[in-house]
Amino acid sequence: MTLKDEALSLQAEVAAYAVAGAADLEAFRLAYISKNGKLSLLFEQFKNVPKEDKKEFGQILNAVKQAAEDKFRLHKEKIEAQAEAQAGAAIDVSLPADLGMKGSLHPLTQTKDEIIRIFQRIGFNLSEGAEIETDWHNFSALNFAPNHPARDMQDTFFVEKDPDMLLRTHTSSVQIRVMESQKPPIRTLSVGRVFRNETISARAHCMFHQIEGLYIDKNVSFADLKETLLYFAKEFFGTQTKIRLRPSYFPFTEPSAEVDVSCNICNQKGCNVCKYTGWLEVLGCGMVHPNVLRNCGIDPEVYSGFAFGMGIERITMMRYTIKDLRLYFENDMRFLKQF
Ligand code: PHE
Repeated sequence: MTLKDEALSLQAEVAAYAVAGAADLEAFRLAYISKNGKLSLLFEQFKNVPKEDKKEFGQILNAVKQAAEDKFRLHKEKIEAQAEAQAGAAIDVSLPADLGMKGSLHPLTQTKDEIIRIFQRIGFNLSEGAEIETDWHNFSALNFAPNHPARDMQDTFFVEKDPDMLLRTHTSSVQIRVMESQKPPIRTLSVGRVFRNETISARAHCMFHQIEGLYIDKNVSFADLKETLLYFAKEFFGTQTKIRLRPSYFPFTEPSAEVDVSCNICNQKGCNVCKYTGWLEVLGCGMVHPNVLRNCGIDPEVYSGFAFGMGIERITMMRYTIKDLRLYFENDMRFLKQF
């Protein structure tokens, strides 16, 4: 076959090539138009064409080139127009609108609100305080001795030295502010964030939330404390719930106790949540120490009172058997959607 014949046969090939879609068009481009395509290869042969045929050969090749390029452009426009029409059809304006994801209250907020409601029913109000506190309100007024280990750098985040300013380690600081500024009877809850210099793990965090209660009046006794906590336990954990008090120590209460509630998950038969004891530790409490009352200008000969405090994360963990504290703060929708 002469080179001229080859050019003619290429011309026929280009004309006959069937393009059904984008893939065919790309194959067509590679075969004929691209730098390594058949047309270029033939153009390279130009020097080998006998002199008398050069003119005709050139004319044929130029015609083939033109035809190939026209064919390519035509199909390209057609395919693009089709894609555009399809995209338009995909928008169905009669479909109901996507309203997005609905939010809900964080599990900690739900627990906090419920505890507040339970105590509001028996006359407790709410008090708030600052998260950055003085040493006096967080420690000294609460009868912490000057060398008490809780003041140590390992537990407390100090913001400033001399005078000491720190991130409160408990919301008992709010109770001091209430007693300094209000006259008994006092029945108040202090709720909020507290901070401790702990390594973050499944069971501990450097930031968590507390609810503390304070009741100061004439003739407030330990029996009042016990009944108040039993009422709370039954309201929050269910009417079958029992409580037990174990002696404990806090600088700001005397006597002090740790309160356990009966484990409702296993009905006290023993499970891995209560570690096979049938009891769950939920809060600390006690009668307000006379030194604390005196520090706030309340006469301990006339008034007495009780205080209690609990961690909201811990109580929420017990309630929903959440195994890892860090889940509260990760904003993972798969966790949050369950509440
Ligand atoms: N403030 C104590 C704590 O953070 C809890 C507590 C409050 C204990 C009131 C007794 C009375 O651990």
